[in-house]
Amino acid sequence: MNIITYRYIPIKLEEILWKTEKTIVLVYKLLQDNTSKLGIGPGHFILLWVPGHEAIPLVPILLDKNTVVFIVKSRGSTTQLLVENPPKRAGIIGPLGREIEKAKLQSNILLIGGGTGVATLLSLISLATKNYNSLITLIYGAKNSLEFIPINDIFYRILENINTIYVTEDGSIGLRGKVTDALAYLDLTIYDVIIAVGPIQMLCNIYHNAQDKGYIGKLLLGLETIVKCGMGFCGSCLINNGNILLCREGPIFKATELTQWANSQC
Ligand SMILES: Cc1cc2nc3c(=O)[nH]c(=O)nc-3n(C[C@H](O)[C@H](O)[C@H](O)COP(=O)(O)OP(=O)(O)OC[C@H]3O[C@@H](n4cnc5c(N)ncnc54)[C@H](O)[C@@H]3O)c2cc1C
Ligand code: FES
Repeated sequence: MNIITYRYIPIKLEEILWKTEKTIVLVYKLLQDNTSKLGIGPGHFILLWVPGHEAIPLVPILLDKNTVVFIVKSRGSTTQLLVENPPKRAGIIGPLGREIEKAKLQSNILLIGGGTGVATLLSLISLATKNYNSLITLIYGAKNSLEFIPINDIFYRILENINTIYVTEDGSIGLRGKVTDALAYLDLTIYDVIIAVGPIQMLCNIYHNAQDKGYIGKLLLGLETIVKCGMGFCGSCLINNGNILLCREGPIFKATELTQWANSQC
């Protein structure tokens, strides 16, 4: 039996890197230990405890051993507070979820992201480029320039050696279209692993594209659902017709594990 150890680490707000009405990029310093003690691996998430509110699932982007960055989009009361008035002190609980197999990261990887899904991909990139010999191409898409997070400026250190392709639906930044349109420009046979994280419609389009084009076997999808305890106790994160706990077995899954999810959501 695997014994899972969770840690709680208090954190302190250091800086706001970028902000719009709905989205914010926050830098927190760890007040105890460091990120290697936290044990965050590729694919993990954490619960961010917001004093006086609740703990919500977020993906941490590790900048260095004492610094963690969050990209937060306002959806309800807690995320709205984080965007409008981020707490000076908070705490992180983790690591949560299942790590991606290391073998998958020692390869030629295509990452596809939309919305705050790009946080998961930046987190993967920061861990994979430090620890594995990955060759990475990133496609990041947004509706328009207002929703486009300028990751090339904010995360230039993480993206230094990464091939990046930007796509907006109105063509205001990068290619015009959706991320799936950008796939048409790439030879997908050269990638060993393709990982997509973002809004459901984007994931469904990629799922169907993968079925049609024959790369479903190397596709991983990062999903989101309501997560409460984050530790496999409460059952609020059941997906795939109730047979997978996202907080224990996800949030990143092989697309071939998600047939029932795709049948019900796509
Ligand atoms: C593994 C994981 C990683 C995540 N990483 C990030 C991240 O890096 N950045 C980020 O901005 N968000 C992320 N989220 C989503 C974030 O956790 C939710 O937006 C947040 O918990 C909402 O809390 P709230 O109190 O603001 O809104 P609530 O009042 O709890 O909810 C507001 C509305 O959003 C819906 N909702 C809440 N959570 C989700 C969800 N996960 N999926 C779909 N609908 C939802 C609710 O049903 C409700 O309609 C992640 C979620 C998961 C499961
Ligand atoms: S969030 Fe409680 S079981 Fe997954």
